Amino acid sequence: MIQNKICDIIIFGGHGDLALRKLMPALYHLCHDGHLPQESRIISVSRDEVSQAEHIALMEEKLKLNLKGDCFDAEYFETFKNYLTYVKADLTQSSSYEKLATLLKGEEERERINYLSTSPALFGTICKSLHEFDLITPQSRVVLEKPIGRDLASSRVINEEVAKHFAESAIFRIDHYLGKDTVQNILALRFSNMLFAPIWNAQYIDHIQITVAESVGLEGRWDYYNEYGAMRDMIQNHLMQLLCLVTMEPPCSLDGDAVRDEKLKVIRSLRPIEGEDLTTKTVRGQYSAGAINKEAVPGFFEEEGGSPKSDTETFAALRVDIDNWRWYNVPIYLRTGKRMSKRYSEIVVDFKEIPHSIFPNKGSCIDTNKLVIRLQPDESISMFIMNKVPGLTDGMRLQKVKLDLKAAEDAPRVPDAYEYLLLDVVRNHAALFMRRDEVEAAWTWADTILDGWCKNEIKPKPYPAGTNGPAASIAMIEKDGRSWYGE
Ligand code: BG6
Repeated sequence: MIQNKICDIIIFGGHGDLALRKLMPALYHLCHDGHLPQESRIISVSRDEVSQAEHIALMEEKLKLNLKGDCFDAEYFETFKNYLTYVKADLTQSSSYEKLATLLKGEEERERINYLSTSPALFGTICKSLHEFDLITPQSRVVLEKPIGRDLASSRVINEEVAKHFAESAIFRIDHYLGKDTVQNILALRFSNMLFAPIWNAQYIDHIQITVAESVGLEGRWDYYNEYGAMRDMIQNHLMQLLCLVTMEPPCSLDGDAVRDEKLKVIRSLRPIEGEDLTTKTVRGQYSAGAINKEAVPGFFEEEGGSPKSDTETFAALRVDIDNWRWYNVPIYLRTGKRMSKRYSEIVVDFKEIPHSIFPNKGSCIDTNKLVIRLQPDESISMFIMNKVPGLTDGMRLQKVKLDLKAAEDAPRVPDAYEYLLLDVVRNHAALFMRRDEVEAAWTWADTILDGWCKNEIKPKPYPAGTNGPAASIAMIEKDGRSWYGE
């Protein structure tokens, strides 16, 4: 195992939802599995008036709640608690940073990771205060959680403020989808198998679908979500990253810049969706009350904290075109939404029809080959191919067969996305983090659509919770002679 250096991991917003639900469990696993040397510290910074003992008790309670399966080990927690330190601070007040400065004094040689798990509005203030208190050492990095802005202009402001104090190579912008095991597996599938290389292009692929469906609603985040909507919350980042990994050219290595250069080229090749295309190639939706798993669920307006005047989309479907040689005329259909019938994320690569059939009925029974990458839940990779029905049949009868390329059932525990990403920050590996030019290029493309929706008053169409979005999203793909996979 690689021996990692001693680190101080400082979590700003240390008692917030993300820190308690995702970061602390990930750090627990990293410590437990020997990835963080024992002298390392996990310093939680928050406004809460609690003692060190109360902080440890809170972490214990939350780990019991948030660690999956039976991963909480009471005996190990006695060791883990030695990593934990609490600092009370109001991050908007520069005097608040004194305590942190005292704690960090004399430890300048350590790797120092500043995880900003706060509202982006505070990113600039925190970085400035760290600078004023001389807390930015040559070994310092900063980790930024999304959303980095809600459009190009606001993302630039945030990026500028952070860039005043941290070099781009020390800035780690998280998109947690890149930390998912199955998402990283796309790289393995594409670039460690010769099988797919010659057919991964417009000559053999008809189209690609990427669906990220959620059955949850707003989980108490109405105000945030109402400001962002599906386009800003999911498409500009998570679905964009999936699209890039599936369609980018092979990078020359797994180095941070090699991978990110290729992703950037894809984003820059996306055809802007504007004018008439806004109505033919995009669909916005908003859920009304309905039922999921036979349980009644409220509509968008009736969710906790909701208000009836909102044009925010909770669903979006798009037809995206990539203007380059490899993907000429190969549409990529993207779809995501809240309160859909079930939670699943899937990428479907649909190959072209065979050029000429030698089988009965002109081969009407032949379905196109499909590669289906199920990212969550029930991760799997399946290939659908045609096969002969065995035995003495009248003429040659064909059937569709599923080849399951799933990893062995007894594979070890799959780490959570945040474990991968935090470990990469500790090791200073940037490939799975977004570079500034990438984020800004993604906003440039998304802004054209968002502005178009706004200027042309394209409102979301209602869909009942528990369905797969408005009927218009089905019409959008059917008009191209295709259909959503599995429907
Ligand atoms: C977050 C979005 O980035 O991703 C949420 O803000 C969304 O709205 C979540 O629910 C989905 O992540 P996952 O890992 O559950 O698919």
